[in-house]
Amino acid sequence: MSKVAVVTGGTRGIGRAVCERLKADGLRVAAIFAGNDAAAAECRQALEILVLKCDVTASLECRAVVREIESLLGPIDVLVNNAGVTRDAALHKMEENDWSTVIHTDLDGLYNMTRPVIEGMRDRGYGRIINIASINGQKGQFGQTNYSAAKAGVIGFTKALALESARKGITVNAIAPGYIDTDMVAHVPHEVLEAIKAGIPVGRLGRPEEVARCVSFLASEDQAFITGATLTVNGGQYLV
Ligand code: CAA
Repeated sequence: MSKVAVVTGGTRGIGRAVCERLKADGLRVAAIFAGNDAAAAECRQALEILVLKCDVTASLECRAVVREIESLLGPIDVLVNNAGVTRDAALHKMEENDWSTVIHTDLDGLYNMTRPVIEGMRDRGYGRIINIASINGQKGQFGQTNYSAAKAGVIGFTKALALESARKGITVNAIAPGYIDTDMVAHVPHEVLEAIKAGIPVGRLGRPEEVARCVSFLASEDQAFITGATLTVNGGQYLV
């Protein structure tokens, strides 16, 4: 029986590429999205995967969506925590809502989705959890105290859960993408983005498929010895 994967923020950008890749790998895939109904409909039709609406900041909704996916596809073997938002502003100009929206989505969302999935993985003795962090959680970024804090938190969460899960056949890893050609990066002011691009040794933005390829690797059944790691995918922009 093929494995079941769930991808949060799975209908656009990196998440969509991950869904496409995991489906091509032979997994049964469910994508979760929060708001963009048009993108979700397009994704459902193009990829022919299960697409469900769920706000990762709402723990009860997350529990319900996990139950629904398990009843439709079977137990969840692979969880890709990809959902994330930005609300960029220097801290001295940042509204409380910009802080809390990013922390609730990018960090609390990780707890809300992983908590209902982890017990089943432990019981079955198998799981692959891949958390999408960011270069900016590793190096910091002007205008992103909220996002950098959340993404650094994702890396800490990954390491701690990897230790808790290692004896249970579950690997937990993070991927730290740099600037990838998605809607999120397209919102960065033009001149700022040009300056960032100039600092990427590979000389271009990354492609969502390049991150998806890494997820596919970490999600594979025969890769069970990498855990607690953060895989850097940033074109050489920041070397850790
Ligand atoms: N480093 C140092 N100084 C900087 C700076 C930087 N990166 N950016 C701006 N400044 C300085 C400016 O030069 C200016 O200085 P002066 O007052 O002395 O002239 C001062 O800070 C204020 O600059 P702005 O007027 O431009 O500030 P702002 O408040 O209008 O905007 C900002 C600031 C919102 C942070 C804007 O620069 C911005 O959006 N930057 C992009 C941040 C970014 O990279 N976000 C990533 C989004 S994509 C993503 O997050 C995905 C991922 O995982 C990689």
